Amino acid sequence: MKIILIGPPGVGKGTEAKRLATLFDIPHISTGDMFRAMFDEDTELAKIAKAHINRGELVPDDLTNAMVIERLQEPDAKKGFLFDGYPRNIVQAKALDDFLSNQGETMDAVLYIDADIELITERIAGRRVCKSCGAVYHVNYKKPKVDGVCDQCQGVLYQRKDDMEATVRRRLHIYHDVTAPIIDYYKHQQGFHAIDGSGNIEETHQKVMDAIQ
Ligand code: AP5
Repeated sequence: MKIILIGPPGVGKGTEAKRLATLFDIPHISTGDMFRAMFDEDTELAKIAKAHINRGELVPDDLTNAMVIERLQEPDAKKGFLFDGYPRNIVQAKALDDFLSNQGETMDAVLYIDADIELITERIAGRRVCKSCGAVYHVNYKKPKVDGVCDQCQGVLYQRKDDMEATVRRRLHIYHDVTAPIIDYYKHQQGFHAIDGSGNIEETHQKVMDAIQ
């Protein structure tokens, strides 16, 4: 299974991606998570990624593509993979296509999840993330058992810096201008499905499974 999840910030890509990756036993490749995992490293890439992310802007394509291509060459990606947050513009989509066609492969499914802007903004505002393991919660829709504490590892829950209101506005703007055009790029390819992500987590999962089947 080779799957791409596309959609606006906060629509629920990561939440769904974790379930699908477990279900199909394939690696969940989230470029956002990969960049965030570097934040404490003292490297040029980490500094550049952190600066761009905290401003709500995309990390430069050459760095992002190189990181993804390297990840795809790891042994676990041989059985398939699920992209969450990549590709994010036409340059990245073409770089991925070139890499896959050189291997004689194509994507199996491109799932485009969308919801109203009010819903997305509310999901982002209430998101809390575990500092230790990266598990994602929501203050209303996916509450931890103990307030502020991760169910899985008892780590501290925090709000992502790029989830602050002004940065979210910038991310949504960039999504609209730069990322949304890739929907047209994939729309006519086999395996493309548009999914209404306005229902709760279970409802969205069911719609994704129906599309895949
Ligand atoms: P990234 O981490 O990819 O962020 P994003 O695409 O903006 O998506 P989010 O993580 O904000 O949301 P999501 O759709 O995964 O929603 P989630 O499941 O968490 O990227 C961050 C930054 O990294 C970018 O801005 C950029 O700077 C950089 N970057 C990343 N990839 C890049 C690339 N390819 N090129 C260049 N730069 C790149 O859900 C949100 C909340 O809602 C959670 O609290 C969840 O519990 C809740 N929720 C989820 N689904 C539902 C539901 N159905 N009902 C109710 N609540 C729900």
